[in-house]
Amino acid sequence: MFFPSQDNNYRSLVVGVDIKIPLSNGMYTTAINFDNAATTPPFTSVLQDIFAFSPYYSSIHRGSGYKSELSSSVYEESRISILAFAGADPDNDTVIYVKNTTEALNKLAHRFCSNDKKCVILSSDMEHHSNDLPWRDRYTVDYVNIDNNGKLSLKDLESKLIKYNGRVKLITVTGASNVTGIINPVYDMAAIAHKYGAKIVVDGAQVIPHIPFNMKPLNPKEHIDFLVFSGHKMYAPFGVGVLIGPKQAFESGDPDTKGGGTVQFVTHDFVSWSSPPQKDEAGTPNLMGVIALVSAIETLKTINMTNVARIEAELTKYTLNKLKNIPDIILYGNKTYTEDRLGIIPFNIKDIPHDITAKILSDERGISVRSGCFCAHPYVQKLLNLPKDEIKKYISNPSLPRPGMVRISFGLYNTYSEADILINLLEKIIRNKSYYMKKYHPDK
Ligand SMILES: Cc1ncc(COP(=O)(O)O)c(C=O)c1O
Repeated sequence: MFFPSQDNNYRSLVVGVDIKIPLSNGMYTTAINFDNAATTPPFTSVLQDIFAFSPYYSSIHRGSGYKSELSSSVYEESRISILAFAGADPDNDTVIYVKNTTEALNKLAHRFCSNDKKCVILSSDMEHHSNDLPWRDRYTVDYVNIDNNGKLSLKDLESKLIKYNGRVKLITVTGASNVTGIINPVYDMAAIAHKYGAKIVVDGAQVIPHIPFNMKPLNPKEHIDFLVFSGHKMYAPFGVGVLIGPKQAFESGDPDTKGGGTVQFVTHDFVSWSSPPQKDEAGTPNLMGVIALVSAIETLKTINMTNVARIEAELTKYTLNKLKNIPDIILYGNKTYTEDRLGIIPFNIKDIPHDITAKILSDERGISVRSGCFCAHPYVQKLLNLPKDEIKKYISNPSLPRPGMVRISFGLYNTYSEADILINLLEKIIRNKSYYMKKYHPDK
């Protein structure tokens, strides 16, 4: 197959993709970013829209005057775009703006079952810590098992729902793993959850920027009850995230963060809270963050999410096919391309620690990847097959070098040429392991 060198029509939509950065030898090279699962660079359109709105930027909700009224209406109307993009129900669902996915999940955890330990929350073995830790202190949390390829077991999900006999109130699951890219069958999970009277929240941090998604409000069986995601992973930095769910779910109870903007009326001994979503958006809202997010959504819609998914899938297939034929590359999760995965590939080079591989890629050719356990320690421990005794050693000795993997994750602007540069360098490292191990030994 032949691919031209700048084989991606969407590259010009993204800021900084051709920027030169210094290498450790002082030479300059074009940066390659394969760490899009962590955060993506901004769309040019996002920066343009922020710049264009800046002359009108003003206080929201509490101010009078043209600019303030315009700012307030832009902020409020943005919720309609977000609901439409997520395929939510505009009549019943609300959008609560937060900082990121982590804050959204903490907010939902505060609200969901009123901190009742009798309430069981089913998380899974593959969750990011942000979709595990917020639930732990407040509720009884159990984890749906994964199989040897890192896939979640629907059988185990159902058997846990049966075991807890009506106590499971919520299944909280990632739309796709940030470690293996495996896309979870969330609609099947929703149907199982609803059958046993539970609700489902999808952590959309990874799926929303990469594949089409719909909360399916008109399908009571497969409907996704709550959805959370982050702007900075979808080409819209500036610190905004989203929690979508039925308005009614946020009506009773106190907000987790209290302050300005959350109340209707206050005396020294009385508070009446505003209605959702304002009640859950304490303090001055992040209008520029919201403008960035709506702008990114418009650009993604123009590209078309089916197109985004296809571009990234083809690049993933190409890269995986090459990687799996390189001796000494160890792949984790699904070792071949399947349709139920995002453009995320975790691997190690045999006998080279993950952090050293990442450093070599960066220092030798300006390739950014992530290495470690990707805030999903239990999942990575399982994928690495770490015995319990070894895990205990890491717990008792924090100075031991940490286990982990290297992760490449694609964005819609990455190219086959970039993948080839990575693959060539990996082959070179493998051919010259002792040279690189000596050069990048941690003591150096
Ligand atoms: C699956 C998943 N959930 C949650 C998060 C947390 O996102 P944020 O850091 O934007 O809160 C991440 C971040 O990598 C993620 O990949």
